[in-house]
Amino acid sequence: MQQMKIHVEAADRVFVLTGAGISAESGLPTFRASDGLWSGHRIEEVCTPEAWERNPALVWEFYSKRREDGAKAQPNPAHIALAELEAQVGDRFFLCTQNVDDLHERGGSQRLVHMHGELAKSRCEDDCGRPPVEDRAIYKSLAEVGHCACGARLRPHIVFFGEIPLEMGRIERAISDSTLMIVVGTSGSVYPAANFVHWARQGGARTVYIGPERPLNASAFTYVVEGKAGEVMPGLFTVDA
Ligand code: APR
Repeated sequence: MQQMKIHVEAADRVFVLTGAGISAESGLPTFRASDGLWSGHRIEEVCTPEAWERNPALVWEFYSKRREDGAKAQPNPAHIALAELEAQVGDRFFLCTQNVDDLHERGGSQRLVHMHGELAKSRCEDDCGRPPVEDRAIYKSLAEVGHCACGARLRPHIVFFGEIPLEMGRIERAISDSTLMIVVGTSGSVYPAANFVHWARQGGARTVYIGPERPLNASAFTYVVEGKAGEVMPGLFTVDA
């Protein structure tokens, strides 16, 4: 059987959205695979501003564990395939990930934004205006957590449920400029990311979904490539010079 190809034309501007599924084959469980639970807590209970107010030690325990798991994981062939596509497409490529791991960067991606934040950074809990700082520490207790120069405690540089995603202006411009949208490994259940495909369709872009299950917004895609990203993405793209 001939494998389907996604053809990238010389005039295409490519917008890629990735979700937890692209890191699944690197050993990082998706939100859905874990039934939305962590150590008996609903994930929303450790990833909200209210959780941070109520129990910052628990929130840091959760993100310290994710830092530990993320540091052990390696990019898989799907991360590499996107980095190779970017190398061919150059400035006509834009990657937006919902993932907070750094597997895209470690796989070689350069033009990317983390709309839900980054595990390897922390920032002021009072949003005093200072930029996030590199922080890969695995905290054993709240007493170990550092403070911002303004004196407030550092919190994970993560967009909690109910907070506004990062870089939305740049993301919206890149979607409206795009002619081809490729979405990988996301269930289509978290907004605004689940709407990106609709915005791209309104602008006339072709839209492709890659993953083993149909996402909730599957009907908005021109094509669905069914399979695990690490298995179907190598060799999937043909790129016009
Ligand atoms: N390859 C591609 N897709 C996969 C693979 C794989 N090997 N394994 C699982 N998937 C797909 C699942 O079919 C599912 O549709 O990945 C998707 C994972 O869905 P979710 O767990 O809901 O993750 P995501 O859509 O990224 O969640 C969005 O919700 O947890 C919050 O802020 C967090 O960024 C996250 C957001």
